[in-house]
Amino acid sequence: DRLPELLRGMPKAELHMHIEGSLEPELIFALAQRNGVSIPYASVEDLRRAYAFTNLQSFLDIYYAGASVLLKEQDFYDMAWAYLQRAAAENVLRTEMFFDPQTHTARGVAMETVVNGLHRACVDAQAQLGVSAALILCFLRHLSEEEAFATLEQALPHRDKFIGIGLDSSEVGHPPEKFARVFARCRELGFHLVAHAGEEGPPAYVWTALDVLKVERVDHGVQSSKDAALMRRLAADRIPLTVCPLSNLKLCVFPDLAQHNLGALLDAGLVATVNSDDPAYFGGYLNENFVQTFAATGLTAQQAFQLADNSFVASFASAAQKQAWR
Ligand code: HPA
Ligand code: ZN
Repeated sequence: DRLPELLRGMPKAELHMHIEGSLEPELIFALAQRNGVSIPYASVEDLRRAYAFTNLQSFLDIYYAGASVLLKEQDFYDMAWAYLQRAAAENVLRTEMFFDPQTHTARGVAMETVVNGLHRACVDAQAQLGVSAALILCFLRHLSEEEAFATLEQALPHRDKFIGIGLDSSEVGHPPEKFARVFARCRELGFHLVAHAGEEGPPAYVWTALDVLKVERVDHGVQSSKDAALMRRLAADRIPLTVCPLSNLKLCVFPDLAQHNLGALLDAGLVATVNSDDPAYFGGYLNENFVQTFAATGLTAQQAFQLADNSFVASFASAAQKQAWR
């Protein structure tokens, strides 16, 4: 069976990964030591043992704890550089990386420390790895819209260093429309817009991400298959879904990979893509997501090429650049 080889070797884009979710336990411990930060785990193994999640919130609690070791610009650079080297090795030609500034500014880390470290890694990725890398700033949806506005204000001096705005963290109880005004402002400013919706939350959240926030892509969106009218809307408007199979497995969104609806989304004509979400926490980088999902669901080589093409189509790279990749 040569499918794994084909999946690993094919050129692709990654459109849904949180750079803080690429922080491996070894790097967490190294940065904790370098910065004199104490973490409530005895060893790398002890920390890895804690990665047994039952839902999104049980993951987020550990993910935010892991990010507490990031203090200096070099820490953010080192984290992003480790991921970008891995992406290059996996034939990722383009990556659009989420970052969560509020996780860091709340601890007293300056916005410029976060953005400058991540952006320098993006510049070096193009020059040294041939990987096109861009940043998407996410607002934390468990915090208020007022706090999102304040974060936007802090980030605007760096607006040339990120291409879009996203929405992540605890979904249920924090619908997209909570951020209607700040997304309207980001739209006026010319940013690309995306939002997590329909990961654990209902199809109604996907509708309001589209109709209220006016997002160009939906992150996850897998709950859309419960709403036939929504599926028709996503297909008709060619709204991409950035699906993350191993994330969905580890956060118990699907009981096993064989039950994942990626194939159904493709069959319905949706522009679905495969992504790693938080690879250090969910047991695999992008190629592992492809290989395990194809092995479990019986997707075909033709669907592999469709997913790779979708990833370029759905990216925010220039039309000329996308054409060159496809
Ligand atoms: N969902 C919501 N917020 C997140 C995720 C996710 O999968 N990963 C990191 N922050
Ligand atoms: Zn995500």
